[in-house]
Amino acid sequence: MIMKSKSYLKIRGGNKLYGDIKISGSKNAALPIICASLLTDEPVILENIPNISDIQNLLDILRIAGCSINNFDDKIEIKKPIKLNSFLKHNSVSKLRASILLAAPLAVRTGYVELALPGGCQIGARPFDEHLKGFLKLGIKSQVNEDSLVCSLNGLKGATYTFGAVSVTGTENIIMAAVLAKGQTVINNAAKEPEIVDLVCFLRKMGAIISGEGTDRITIEGVLRLSGCSYCVSSDRIELGSYMAIVAAAGGEVNFLNANSHQSNIVINKLVEMGCVIEDNGSSIKMSVDSNIKPVSLSTEVYPGFPTDLQAQFMALNATLGGESLIVENIYENRFHHAEELRKMGASINIEERSAKIVGGELKGAVVFASDLRAAAALVVAAVSTSDETTINNLHYLDRGYENFVEKMKLVGLEIERV
Ligand code: EPZ
Repeated sequence: MIMKSKSYLKIRGGNKLYGDIKISGSKNAALPIICASLLTDEPVILENIPNISDIQNLLDILRIAGCSINNFDDKIEIKKPIKLNSFLKHNSVSKLRASILLAAPLAVRTGYVELALPGGCQIGARPFDEHLKGFLKLGIKSQVNEDSLVCSLNGLKGATYTFGAVSVTGTENIIMAAVLAKGQTVINNAAKEPEIVDLVCFLRKMGAIISGEGTDRITIEGVLRLSGCSYCVSSDRIELGSYMAIVAAAGGEVNFLNANSHQSNIVINKLVEMGCVIEDNGSSIKMSVDSNIKPVSLSTEVYPGFPTDLQAQFMALNATLGGESLIVENIYENRFHHAEELRKMGASINIEERSAKIVGGELKGAVVFASDLRAAAALVVAAVSTSDETTINNLHYLDRGYENFVEKMKLVGLEIERV
């Protein structure tokens, strides 16, 4: 159960936004990289790790596993104990989906791991059968109990595994299981997300031998051991896309600093199709929005297709713009909870199975409730489009993935208070 936070946001939109927004480190790259740091007994130093609750929760779990975490000038150092504690049936483990990424490193390092079942946003069934099938091929046997996942090592040998469903954390888990296995592992139908490339770059710095990251076929040559290293995590493409949708809904001109455009091509192309003007200046992106941008239709796909993690934010954006659009959610079977809250603000959204038909127009302020991390961002997109006041509850969802959200929004002129 995720802790309920009593705090909420009060937003009064209607004015254009101007200034700079600094993009933080990627949540979905930092989470697997922190887990992968357990694959060596040497210290690891990580930079550009966002200060968000998912990260704090995962670091708390590492502390329970016996690690010591030191924070110093915007870096974290992770030191491992002589013997890792791999009995982790704590409720902090079930606060986040990414805790499933502890399975491979702890099984490989200790031979046995007992994890509380992973949690995460309620956007679908979120099985992890592919993880366990891949583990079995490599010699890690698993048992799913009512409240825990048990994985035990039975000799770790390289193998070929073909994913039935493309899975981001599944691919990450199998890579982490394979880097210290005897011999070669080939992963077919691997996920191609940039967060996997980031994990592989980190593992390579530790001495892993991996090729093919970013394609659907990844090859790993097992090595005897991995060493410590220091690594800077890439910037967060989903945070960037979320803020771009907010600026598109409000209008104005904003510079996104530490932004990495080549991981966001399809999102930027959609914004340009809407009529936004976007200038890529290397490590920053300038976006200018006037009042006559149009809604766009889109379908979510695995990378490099349109990210499912920006579906809610773009549904909200389309709802604020005159005209019709269609959104199809192909990744999760249940990721439209935000539509109900947007309807409270006057949005016209008609859902049939995985398709949402939006007829955009003027929205009004309302008291709304975030249902998951990206839905929280979507409600902000809607709120900035109206000069009415909107109250957004369940801020713990926003806190999971958006560092210094209120400060960043205030800096570009949004009237926003956390109460
Ligand atoms: C990662 O989740 C991200 N989380 C999610 O971001 C993101 O939405 C998702 O990838 C898709 O891009 C992290 O990286 C921590 P999947 P993950 O396994 O790995 C099916 C956010 O907002 N599937 O790629 O859990 C599954 O049902 C979060 O930051 C299986 O069938 O997602 C789903 O339909 C939300 N069996 C599809 O694959 C499996 O064993 C994608 O799931 C695994 C997955």
